[in-house]
Amino acid sequence: MRILIVGSGGREHALAWKLAQEAEVICAPGNPGIALVGECVPVAATDHNGLTALALAREVDLVLVGPENPLVAGLADKLRGAGIATLGPGADGAQLEASKAYSKALMVEAGVPTPRFETFFDPLSAKAFAGSLLMQGKGVVVKASGNALGKGVMVCSEPEEVAEAIDAMLVDREFGDAGAEIVIEERLIGYEFSLLTLCSGTDFRSLPVAQDYKRALDGDRGPNTGGMGSYSPVGTVDAGMVARVEASTVKPILDAMRSRGIDYRGVLFSGMMVEEGVAYCLEYNVRFGDPETQSVVRRLGNGFAVALGACANGAEIPSIEVLDDAAVTVVVASGGYPGTYAKGKQIELGPMPGGVEVFHSGTSVADGKLVTAGGRVCAVSAAGATQDEARKNAYQGAEQVKFEGAFFRRDIAS
Ligand code: AMP
Ligand code: GLY
Repeated sequence: MRILIVGSGGREHALAWKLAQEAEVICAPGNPGIALVGECVPVAATDHNGLTALALAREVDLVLVGPENPLVAGLADKLRGAGIATLGPGADGAQLEASKAYSKALMVEAGVPTPRFETFFDPLSAKAFAGSLLMQGKGVVVKASGNALGKGVMVCSEPEEVAEAIDAMLVDREFGDAGAEIVIEERLIGYEFSLLTLCSGTDFRSLPVAQDYKRALDGDRGPNTGGMGSYSPVGTVDAGMVARVEASTVKPILDAMRSRGIDYRGVLFSGMMVEEGVAYCLEYNVRFGDPETQSVVRRLGNGFAVALGACANGAEIPSIEVLDDAAVTVVVASGGYPGTYAKGKQIELGPMPGGVEVFHSGTSVADGKLVTAGGRVCAVSAAGATQDEARKNAYQGAEQVKFEGAFFRRDIAS
């Protein structure tokens, strides 16, 4: 089997690392870490013609599209139109991630449990609705409807914070067009988990549950980021909870999409929060999570590549072996992230403990040296017999990633 992975981040490195155990992997454009496990071809994720030509020339069995932007822009439609089996929804299915307003409306239509919300273009009405939630003693979450790289969500408890967040999006347009429409939502209090489900249009199968850490700083303080670490399994989420979420959140949205003529073949990422024992869907993404995937793939045995192929081909999805191991992933980021940060800092990787893989996210090579090229630089991922062991090794590994300004959270999986 020959697989083309589109993308260049830590998620794509983790997928390439896992799939290289079962298939030949080509990645476009890839990164210096991916080059260690597969062939990288310098075609950008935005170059849909180039990617289609590459997939045809190399006669790949499957294209796996990593990030959401190419999906939103119709890459999967283009590839399937050229007869190439593709994992990732078309532009229609990708709206589930591209627009939170659309996604929340579809959740309501499908009866998916989700926090109470309304959508707004106008700051005054947004503030009035937020005010009514605050009066009821609820916290308020202000969300840019469009894609703001995981940073367009502000969790607020004071009226001043709410007004500031609304003005930042609707008046100052800090997130550009992504914040031209906003969702105001009731804040839930509880724990979160991510459920990644492989979908073939006719069948679905969930992968092991993971938990992500969205805030930049220890103790869930600081701004939201793309994700600062992850672990799997998640002790609080048992098989019964997964089955309930599949019934309440996965199947109904897939059915709603099918009834709209959307043939959803790809990964459905359900971002869940559990409040008083009830699991609510906060959002869907239309791709593998980053850095959830870095932990999830560490727990997969045989059958992943074949299952992805079945999804892309609209078939029944065979089971994938799941290992008993625990996995913990710590993201090492550039100082200043998720705000502004320096690039081009030289990276030294010291010796890693056993069971550790370093997945590259924002790295590149300059003058023959590995340097930083993004906010999230790499994800140090450890697998071990217990969560404690994996955690200890992931942190020992993170200490070995050295560059000026490097930082990571100290409380992943603690
Ligand atoms: P989202 O992109 O919608 O998943 O939001 C990003 C993060 O913001 C989530 O992972 C939560 O940590 C937080 N968040 C979003 N919506 C809510 C909510 N209704 N209540 C509490 N926290 C939320
Ligand atoms: N880690 C959250 C995401 O991939 O969106």
